[in-house]
Amino acid sequence: MMGTSKSILLGVTGSIAAYKAAELARDFARRGVTVRVMMTPAATKFVTPLTFEALIGSSVVTDLFDDKPAGPIPHVTLAAEADAILIAPASADCIARIVHGFADDVVCCTTMAFKGPLIVAPAMHENMYMSAATQDNIDVLRSRGATIVGPESGDLASGGRGAGRMSSIDTIIGLTLKVLGQYGDLAGRKVIVTAGGTQEPIDPVRCVTNRSSGRMGYAIAEAARDRGASVMLISAPTSLAPPVGVEVVNVTTAQEMFEATETAVDKADALIMAAAVADYRPAAPAAQKIKKEQSTLAVPLERTVDILGSLTGARVRVGFAAESSDLERHAQAKLSAKGLDLIVANDITATDAGFGSEANRVTIIDRNGGIDALPLQSKRDVADCVLDRVVRLLS
Ligand code: CTP
Repeated sequence: MMGTSKSILLGVTGSIAAYKAAELARDFARRGVTVRVMMTPAATKFVTPLTFEALIGSSVVTDLFDDKPAGPIPHVTLAAEADAILIAPASADCIARIVHGFADDVVCCTTMAFKGPLIVAPAMHENMYMSAATQDNIDVLRSRGATIVGPESGDLASGGRGAGRMSSIDTIIGLTLKVLGQYGDLAGRKVIVTAGGTQEPIDPVRCVTNRSSGRMGYAIAEAARDRGASVMLISAPTSLAPPVGVEVVNVTTAQEMFEATETAVDKADALIMAAAVADYRPAAPAAQKIKKEQSTLAVPLERTVDILGSLTGARVRVGFAAESSDLERHAQAKLSAKGLDLIVANDITATDAGFGSEANRVTIIDRNGGIDALPLQSKRDVADCVLDRVVRLLS
């Protein structure tokens, strides 16, 4: 769920990708975004208004004159209610009509009447996309401040391959949330988030690592993006898709994470270390794969660098503490030893939260001794609770 409820007006136009717009509408609604849908006559040939109405529970506007679900002057009412207009899929025809100021269908007319941010996700055959007309029109939209998402290359409905596929749902949603959040309470702030469990090589194929999924850090990166921050996510290996609209720096070892963080931290307003950094690494990783020649094998370990403990940059510094006993005492000791503003502590013995799970139950402790035990909630909601406190500390 987003921190503050936002409202998006989704314009669907005549492209085979129109069927994907139904999933897009439903995914926005799932994230707590209010969605209204408007369709061109051509779009209704590909997917019916009823599909959207059933998925999002509000009436769809398809005509400037015959339908009155948005009141007597639908284009003005719809435009006034929306925080952003997203046109997905945007056909070549629709893009051309918006650029040239046509206003004879509800999508073009409402877009013209709207003063807020416009996001356009083109979808069409490659030749149409690459045509001089469409390229020029897209350039004009961009120069007027629109955000153009995609298109991507891949299989086209016509059977061929090429540029023209509508961007993935995740990409469109990620960039739209970034646009919606651009004036949020972290606007203009630079936030570094680390995530995932580092891997320390034993030999070329084996490593010492831990069971961190990276989900908590990725949720913080997305939440900070949606509140207007410019986010750098320094990520150890995970199986998660990189968040859209976030600068991702991939690292493997604790030393690489230290170097990437050190380079960026001086310009950052906040450093949020959600990564599970290995405390020890093999002292002498083998250059060749170790063969099973001995009945036992001892691998000497040495300490890795303590990233939070050795870097001083960033106005607000947040650490995480994964504890299996004496949660508050251990977390408080880390907070003062590493000179943190906040520490987010969780009990790793809980079976319904934490490592690998979608949810987390954390206690947030601040440098003045304030202790806030939060209920079990999604990692995204935990992320927003942490960022609420970061915002207060920055202001
Ligand atoms: N951390 C770090 N560098 C390390 C180890 C940890 O920056 N080499 C950061 C983690 O990202 C986390 C915080 O320090 O934000 C606390 O991590 P944790 O592993 O719980 O604490 P440690 O200081 O390593 O203490 P211990 O493992 O003994 O509990």
